[in-house]
Amino acid sequence: MSIQWRKSYEIGVEEIDSQHKELFKRIRDLLDACSQNKGRQEVSKMIDFLEEYVDIHFTSEEKLHVKNLYPEYKGHKLLHIKFVENFEEIKRKFESEGPTLQFVAMVNKFVVEWLIHHIGTADRAFGNYLRNKEDKNGDN
Ligand SMILES: [Fe+2]
Repeated sequence: MSIQWRKSYEIGVEEIDSQHKELFKRIRDLLDACSQNKGRQEVSKMIDFLEEYVDIHFTSEEKLHVKNLYPEYKGHKLLHIKFVENFEEIKRKFESEGPTLQFVAMVNKFVVEWLIHHIGTADRAFGNYLRNKEDKNGDN
């Protein structure tokens, strides 16, 4: 699955959409570093760089959920926690084996596919919730 940003991934919340784009970019950089056979240190740097941004991004999403009294907040947060657990496993895989094909396959499955699915379902649901909420407020 390619990690190319598409307009259809936008959920209509600017802060989140732009962070998603940045996430895509960092994942692409990581996968590129692997396919270009960059050294272990270089790939490791990309993993840390991505991990750091995942943390920033999940935190700001969850803050927006809380601020807007999003009823699905807890379930959504659990999805984020599960992702972080998977990511840690991927990191361990890298630490023990380096940028192998299996490692790249794990990144594709647990990072790329997960993210595209998550954006299209859970994040989109939040975008819709926010839009409904703003429409209602607009009527007042
Ligand atoms: Fe999310």
